[in-house]
Amino acid sequence: MKVKTLGQFIIEKQTDFPYAKGELSRLLRDIGIAAKIVNRAVNKAGLVEILGETGEVNVQGEQVKKLDVFANEQFIAALKAGGECCAIASEENEDIIPIDSEVSKNAKYVVAIDPLDGSSNIDVNVSVGTIFSIYRRISLAGPGTIEDFFQRGTEQVAAGYVIYGSSAMLVYTTGKGVNGFTLDPSIGEFCLSHPNMKTPKSGAVYSINEGNYLHFPEGVKKYIKYCQEEDKPSARPYSSRYIGSGVADIHRNLIVGGIYIYPTTTKSPKGKLRLLYECNPLAFIIEQAGGKATDGTNRILEINVTELHQRTPLFIGAQSMVDKAMEFMEATS
Ligand code: AHG
Ligand code: MN
Ligand code: MN
Repeated sequence: MKVKTLGQFIIEKQTDFPYAKGELSRLLRDIGIAAKIVNRAVNKAGLVEILGETGEVNVQGEQVKKLDVFANEQFIAALKAGGECCAIASEENEDIIPIDSEVSKNAKYVVAIDPLDGSSNIDVNVSVGTIFSIYRRISLAGPGTIEDFFQRGTEQVAAGYVIYGSSAMLVYTTGKGVNGFTLDPSIGEFCLSHPNMKTPKSGAVYSINEGNYLHFPEGVKKYIKYCQEEDKPSARPYSSRYIGSGVADIHRNLIVGGIYIYPTTTKSPKGKLRLLYECNPLAFIIEQAGGKATDGTNRILEINVTELHQRTPLFIGAQSMVDKAMEFMEATS
């Protein structure tokens, strides 16, 4: 079998962007490099001093894990060194990180990133991930500004995630379908393993943290009951699968067909997940794979962005399942 590496694939696809000069390709390459370094750390996690908490609390009020910090540093370093990115927005940093360096002075892109998704799973050897979203800058020159990030998800130039699982995979889209690459540790390269990924129109898996059940909106409670009812033609009851790493849950559902929901709760009245570096990139990928992503009413990619760490509820996955969940939401609103 002929192996195609991520680098080779990106060069081949550059012809999709006749006016591009390879900057986006280099940006994706830089993200791939950081992903490999993070993967190496994740693989050795029990052996090296990288498990546990730093003792700090991040802008979201969450305990910061050492691997959160490590991953954040690696992606920032790779993006700074690569020269194609003029500002970074990260889950781990309250403000944007403008990049003001000689190599980045002509950079056209900004990157929003969740360097480590699923932090609660780091210490227990369960899959974690990275999520990234790339926009063309709006500001004209110099380091990027916060306004560069206040663009709707529909304006994303590319988005992707890395899953550090039983194997490491990088999945990305530039708006022309979704492709997945598995890391071959023997050559240290991401190799095309899942070309043109499509998600089933319907599925039989639902993923939601049911521990929050009492705090869910009525529509979500009713939809969960619907998932649990017996009905042969629609393959119900569905299976419940929830890892707690959004990337891993959504990746599995992409492949087998399913719905992932993180609704509003009384604790998190705006939802928990962040629009910029979690929901928008995942929505872009799932839409490109033929699925759907909404906040229960509106398309995720059309939500106005007014805050860096803006939160939104998320209903994402197979089209018919998201539509059904939205019917329940509408009926109870
Ligand atoms: P992060 O580790 O970047 O903070 O994100 C975790 C997110 C998401 O990946 C996951 O599905 C969800 O939070 C889990 O939240 P609960 O523990 O509340 O279910
Ligand atoms: Mn996350
Ligand atoms: Mn995170």
